[in-house]
Amino acid sequence: MQINFTLNGEPVEMRLKNGDRLLVDVLREDLQLTGTKHGCGIGACGTCTVIVDGLPVASCLQLAALVDGADVRTIEGLGDNTSLHVVQQAFINKAALQCGICTPGHVMAACALLDKTPAPTDEQIRTSVESVYCRCTGYVRIEAAYREAVDLAQKARK
Ligand code: FES
Ligand code: FES
Repeated sequence: MQINFTLNGEPVEMRLKNGDRLLVDVLREDLQLTGTKHGCGIGACGTCTVIVDGLPVASCLQLAALVDGADVRTIEGLGDNTSLHVVQQAFINKAALQCGICTPGHVMAACALLDKTPAPTDEQIRTSVESVYCRCTGYVRIEAAYREAVDLAQKARK
């Protein structure tokens, strides 16, 4: 089955081995974008969060066939070593350094919220943070990173 979609701003045209392949597997195995992590596989942990047409999506529940025609963003599309996305910079500034499994999900969840809601309430931040489960530590620094990202984005707009 042939699908076409936009991935991190670039057009992708690919043939799926079968119609029930999940987006997380296509990203990681077929496209070698391993920044998106496969955690629980049942839509509960958020480590596989990507942004599809502006919304945070658990890629472990998303059929790849259904992103045909969609705009998909993964952690690899945010920034690089020379030019970080404000959310990435904010996570560094606030030492919101979680493990390599949950951090990409947290960053993508933050991007999805802040793209749509540049000045989120504390409750909106908390809801977004809690969409990505951390098995080992707290969310205080991550919430601080969201607020830092809001500040950085506001400064960048001035
Ligand atoms: S791996 Fe997708 S929500 Fe846990
Ligand atoms: S799951 Fe990543 S730091 Fe807890």
